Amino acid sequence: MKKFMEEHRKKFGDFEVIEFVDEQAVESLRKHTACDVPLTLNWTWEYGSEVAELRRLYEKGKVNQWNAETELDWDTPVTKDEWVLNPEGSMLAQACALMGKDEATQKAAAFDELAYLMSQLLHGEQAALQLCGQLTNLCDKMDQKWYAASQVVDEARHIEVISKFLQRKMGTIYPVGGTLKFLLDELLEAEGVQKKTLGMQCLFEGTAVGIMDLMRSESRNALFSHMMEKVEQDESRHAAFGVLTMRRVVQEASENEMHEMEDWAFQVLEALNANQQLDMLAHLGPKYDIDGEAMTRMFTGMAEFADINSRAFMHTVVPNLKRLGLITERTESGWRKVGMMVDERAGKPAAGLPEVS
Ligand SMILES: [Fe+2]
Ligand SMILES: [Fe+2]
Repeated sequence: MKKFMEEHRKKFGDFEVIEFVDEQAVESLRKHTACDVPLTLNWTWEYGSEVAELRRLYEKGKVNQWNAETELDWDTPVTKDEWVLNPEGSMLAQACALMGKDEATQKAAAFDELAYLMSQLLHGEQAALQLCGQLTNLCDKMDQKWYAASQVVDEARHIEVISKFLQRKMGTIYPVGGTLKFLLDELLEAEGVQKKTLGMQCLFEGTAVGIMDLMRSESRNALFSHMMEKVEQDESRHAAFGVLTMRRVVQEASENEMHEMEDWAFQVLEALNANQQLDMLAHLGPKYDIDGEAMTRMFTGMAEFADINSRAFMHTVVPNLKRLGLITERTESGWRKVGMMVDERAGKPAAGLPEVS
């Protein structure tokens, strides 16, 4: 993984970004649709509950099921003429404002950016669906299989709701970005419950909760807010499964295994962070005369960069990894250096997630 990502790295001052200048490389990543997944299927003959906390999470999931078609008011308009999110939440809109472009252009740019981000979340949802399907086979306890199966249904609903939102309301589903596709394949093709759970349930679900919470807090559109609120509720249950499972894993892990998980967690999220929206800017920047590289250089060089950039990470994933012992003194400076961790929010428990003791 490291080697592949290094081939696409570029220095921006102290910051390193990942940029796919070669569109062919991205296309071949997208065309890689048949993944070779090593799977061990585990039967169990124990049908009683063995992990009470997972059974409770499964019960909670049953109570909180919802129907994407009937729960939301799909008649609510979503248009390019409105601020779907606050303008401060859009990198493109702010760049357009700085360049003196009119408000209609700023709104259109923010709309495109949102469609791009939601498209990436949609592709991530598909990966989560596939991965949870794998977990129903891989896990060896019935409580885990039940829980994973219930999450498969949740993820199908997320794909349904986000794809309908994009198709009905935004008009476009953008292709998956190169860095994201590479990282999702890394998780899907990983061997064993441990890496899959750490990667998808803790790292990706935890980051997704942070991003969704940020977007919901910036939303000015009732349909978008409602959709995000419903999806986020499910996602925090999913991130909780990650923590509960990983808590058992870390209790039994040797020091070497802990180091390995700690380093891998950092590599995966650092790569996601290093992409710094370059895929989005490469796609949409030219439409608004925005130079993606200059924009990223400016953003990563800002004094407030770490504060702004770390919000999504500090919401759930970083506090959870710290509690699990997967961010320690050995690696903490790395997280800080790339703007994924700041002091003031460190250790704040994320809403709805179990404390790890
Ligand atoms: Fe999801
Ligand atoms: Fe999820």
